[in-house]
Amino acid sequence: MQVLLFTGKGGVGKTTAAAATGALAASQGVKTLVISTDPAHSLADALGVRLGSEPIEIEPGLSAQQVDAQERFERTWREVQGYLLSALEKVGVDPLEAEELTVLPGADEVLALLAVREQIESGRYDLVIVDCAPTAETLRLLSLPDALSWYMKRIWPVERRVVRSLRPVLNRVTSVPMPTDVVFDAVERLHAELAAVRAVLADAEQTAVRLVLTPEAVVVAEARRTMTTLSLYGYRVDAVLANRIIPPGDPWRDRWAKAQEVQLAEVEESFAPLPVLRVPYQAAEPVGLEALVEVGRAAYGDLDPTGLPPQGEPMDVQRTADGFTLSIPLPFAEKDQLDLSRRGDELVVTVASWRRLLTLPSALRRCDVTGAHLVDGRLLVDFVPDPAVWMTT
Ligand SMILES: Nc1ncnc2c1ncn2[C@@H]1O[C@H](COP(=O)(O)OP(=O)(O)OP(=O)(O)O)[C@@H](O)[C@H]1O
Ligand SMILES: [Mg+2]
Repeated sequence: MQVLLFTGKGGVGKTTAAAATGALAASQGVKTLVISTDPAHSLADALGVRLGSEPIEIEPGLSAQQVDAQERFERTWREVQGYLLSALEKVGVDPLEAEELTVLPGADEVLALLAVREQIESGRYDLVIVDCAPTAETLRLLSLPDALSWYMKRIWPVERRVVRSLRPVLNRVTSVPMPTDVVFDAVERLHAELAAVRAVLADAEQTAVRLVLTPEAVVVAEARRTMTTLSLYGYRVDAVLANRIIPPGDPWRDRWAKAQEVQLAEVEESFAPLPVLRVPYQAAEPVGLEALVEVGRAAYGDLDPTGLPPQGEPMDVQRTADGFTLSIPLPFAEKDQLDLSRRGDELVVTVASWRRLLTLPSALRRCDVTGAHLVDGRLLVDFVPDPAVWMTT
């Protein structure tokens, strides 16, 4: 079972690319589901069918689904969220923790992740393709299980215990409503489910992200930033799909075609060794299966749409003369946007406004960080064993 996520800036062709990849894979006999987490109904429009919140088989081997934010779920989550925020304020958590909590999810994202997980686990498909919302929402969605996981590990157990024992007293003296066990149980269940979906999505063997862009400077710049953030959270990007390429020879749009060529060359070079799949500007909107399969063929040629070979090394730890180096892929990251700190067993890596708390492998926990460098799109963090810590354990 493979999972492909399509993301990119608004309007670049994510839905078209996701649907085209699904249509092409299905035409090659792969049992495929295309699932849209975007509240707009454009997947249905691209396929030219009506979709519901359950998968519908639109032709043999190809199903599609539109995740809709369900009101009931939304209400439950808002309750939980509201409680968490007020609890935070009350206990005066430190700024880092407070910030971490502000990335707590909106209902749409949570619901989308859960729906994706349900279909991945159903065992009905060989390929699950996720048509994601534009970049910012997608990144929020993909960073969510991590953020929640950290919260659950650090604050939740303490809070749950404290609140339980204090509830009878607090209820008498404060107007802040105490969460009931129902809220606690719901959050814990949710956390377990999100952790499960995160495990699938961050598994480089099973899941890949395809970055859709159009060859324009602003779009390409955003694609680069997205690439950095995806890498920060440990997601594997396996291709860039350059969409709406104006064919040469059209006198009306010749200058535009030339400008695109410059951008494309730049994309090829900077995203190497990732393949850059090219889709021409179609004569008409690619709507309906036939047109989508054609887009798919243009994009993939002889390549396998279900999975492209991994490029580059994932995060790893190497031995050095005096300790270890932790190497984290962070393509396009810039030094002045990067911040690194150590909190106990965790390394806090911040790139621009995104933060990841990496739980260190056990060998590194008993080491000091002695330096960090950005080299060829990777963050290298040097660790040297701390004798004091080695002796006591
Ligand atoms: N290669 C192409 N040639 C011509 N039209 C295209 C091409 N790719 C996409 N389109 C059209 O461009 C519009 C936007 O595409 P699409 O809905 O796939 O973008 P999106 O990235 O999913 O947008 P959103 O951010 O709103 O979800 C649609 O009308 C689609 O049919
Ligand atoms: Mg879309």
